[in-house]
Amino acid sequence: MKHFLSLADVSDLNHLIISGIEAKRNPFADETLGKHKTIGLMFFNSSLRTRISTQKAAANLGLNVIVMNVGQDSWGLEMEEGVIMNGTKAEHVKEAAAIMGRYCNIIAIRSFAELEDRDKDYAETVFQQFKKYAEVPIVNLESATRHPLQSLADCITIEEFKIKERPKVVLTWLPHFKALPQAVANSFCEWMNPMNVEFVITHPEGYDLDPKFVGKGQVIYDQDKALEGADFVYGKNWSSYTHYGQVLTQDPSWMITEAKMALTDNGKFMHCLPLRRNMKVADEVLDGPRSLVIEQAANREWSAQAVLKEILLGLN
Ligand code: CP
Repeated sequence: MKHFLSLADVSDLNHLIISGIEAKRNPFADETLGKHKTIGLMFFNSSLRTRISTQKAAANLGLNVIVMNVGQDSWGLEMEEGVIMNGTKAEHVKEAAAIMGRYCNIIAIRSFAELEDRDKDYAETVFQQFKKYAEVPIVNLESATRHPLQSLADCITIEEFKIKERPKVVLTWLPHFKALPQAVANSFCEWMNPMNVEFVITHPEGYDLDPKFVGKGQVIYDQDKALEGADFVYGKNWSSYTHYGQVLTQDPSWMITEAKMALTDNGKFMHCLPLRRNMKVADEVLDGPRSLVIEQAANREWSAQAVLKEILLGLN
């Protein structure tokens, strides 16, 4: 594997899922693979799980790890070419990426959507610029449009907990007062498409995702109908893609409660975290036996380890 920006960089998804499960069973089997190599983790946005799980996975593989909060620990970075840099950003990505590429063998980046200009967000400029100027493998720690390390952890979790050969997986929109990116939902759709699952997406009208991510997913606007017989309910809020970045409704009837989960086939609840309790999901679900959110978050370490291992194998 050269880069890990999306599912398109994965040649064998099943192999990657198995590799993650094997890393969980034996975390230090490849503890010398990254010896004398360095990974730089660059965060343009906050993180708990991604930061710690990727640091741990890298350490399990023997990598040196550098973590940087861009704009706080470092200079603010200008991404546009040919601009007069008379604003707040003191360094251009051309120099920053080039020198980071000398210090690090792998660069991993988190940079969210700004939700102001859809074309700009969906162009993924930060990642494209680092890919162009760093000349080392780039790993996506959540971009404007995707969160593939989360999606791989989600696939691992579904494989671990499924009790049917072809489970029904429902991605449901959840209410929230703040505009959030589509990245996790897009990515989950992208990764569910090749999985052996019946994949259903439910959201209020106006929240349709980019069709290129939805793929073969069946869209049902009636949440109760969509949840019927579900084995896994994957909750997430996202702002509108069509009315870009807007919050069109906060309808509390879309919150996941035990009454909603009772419509499923003894289904399990998943969410990438963080989440606001009793806004998106009721305490009774999160604190009950249906919730997989902690298992899912713990699997972030193994998804990161599986991906970093593939990249290191490509370097050695
Ligand atoms: N799920 C996830 O990416 O969590 P963090 O934002 O805390 O990294």
